[in-house]
Amino acid sequence: MSYISLVPEALSGPRNPYNGLFVVHKYEIGFLGGGQLARMSIMAAQRLGLRCLVLDSDPDSPAGQIADSVVGDIRSPEDIAKVLKACQTVTLENEFVPAIALQDALLEAGREPKCLTPSVETMAVINDKLEQRKVYAQHGVPTPVAMPIEAGPPKSFPCIAKQRFGGYDGKGTRTLNSKADFDVLLSQVKPGTWLVEDFIEFRREIAVMVARPCLGSPVCFPTMETVQSGHVCDIVFPAESDASETALRAVEAIGGFGLFGVELFETTDGQTVVNEVAPRPHNSGHYTLDWGAVSQFEQHVRLVMGWPLGPVNGRPSAMANILGPVSDGNLYMATKAALSTSDDVFVHWYGKPWRPGRKLGHINATGTECRHHAEAARLRFLSSWSSASTL
Ligand SMILES: Nc1ncnc2c1ncn2[C@@H]1O[C@H](COP(=O)(O)OP(=O)(O)O)[C@@H](O)[C@H]1O
Ligand SMILES: [Mg+2]
Repeated sequence: MSYISLVPEALSGPRNPYNGLFVVHKYEIGFLGGGQLARMSIMAAQRLGLRCLVLDSDPDSPAGQIADSVVGDIRSPEDIAKVLKACQTVTLENEFVPAIALQDALLEAGREPKCLTPSVETMAVINDKLEQRKVYAQHGVPTPVAMPIEAGPPKSFPCIAKQRFGGYDGKGTRTLNSKADFDVLLSQVKPGTWLVEDFIEFRREIAVMVARPCLGSPVCFPTMETVQSGHVCDIVFPAESDASETALRAVEAIGGFGLFGVELFETTDGQTVVNEVAPRPHNSGHYTLDWGAVSQFEQHVRLVMGWPLGPVNGRPSAMANILGPVSDGNLYMATKAALSTSDDVFVHWYGKPWRPGRKLGHINATGTECRHHAEAARLRFLSSWSSASTL
């Protein structure tokens, strides 16, 4: 965009809250996707005086409830371009925004690639789980050996089969125990959409949030142990180990700048192996909302704005996810029960309609015994969820 074309817009419209000057864009940050991750980043941004815009197909998305939104498709270049035109900078809250759509949207909006965090190139690798595996291997980052399913059955079973694009919370991940399992899957799937990889015998799963700015040194949040239940993150607590070096190498391998959640396996023989990288805030970093130092969400905002990063030296903390119980319930009673304690416990709710198994909120606990306190608070929450009382 030329200077001349900016002038008419820049002489009207909103002013920058920091320096009082007229600004070109109505919003500082656009979020592609309006789920709970965008909602919590927007809460952090708004506290800093920043104005945010959301792109989501649901006008009442968790983030759309607290910020202006464009109703549209995160896969549509036209809709992404609307956000790019209205916002100084644009980021995302999930890995399903196609790199090609971002590229086309930049062209359509006449914007520079640097207004996007993370970059189109990084998203092109992350979109495809097979491409991620290739890039980690090329850079010497330990990761399971993976092949396209069309390359034929693996030498040994069990193995893991995964959807290359669009999988989450274990949807799109399968354990294959035999050649017969492999043949059935191969006959069912579209060519070019699945990979097959080594089954990793792990002692535990861990995760590291990496904040990597374009200028300056990267910062890693503490390594956390993540326990999955049915492939969905159930509880997160301090791992008492440090996988930040391997996590950072994975982010560097994909040329990542911004905030990344790196999921790793600690194998039974003591190796640290990268599973996948999420280009956004991550379940394993939710505890930072209450740990007393910068939260992953504010760190995300600072990275997007090119601002200095915050300190990562909070109290030991744990998080228990709240997944939708089998029937709808009473949020007030459940929250009251969770908070009925002298432990340091905090409830976070995302504003999503109840659905069984859906991530509806989480509970953080801090200090010694934080894991136990988070789990106990969740138990109280879920036991009171079905209560008949309305107070
Ligand atoms: N190669 C593997 N070996 C053993 N378990 C795996 C492997 N890959 C994934 N898993 C298990 O499946 C879960 C979901 O897989 P993941 O690749 O993280 O997909 P998603 O996008 O659903 O999070 C992991 O958290 C882990 O528990
Ligand atoms: Mg995962």
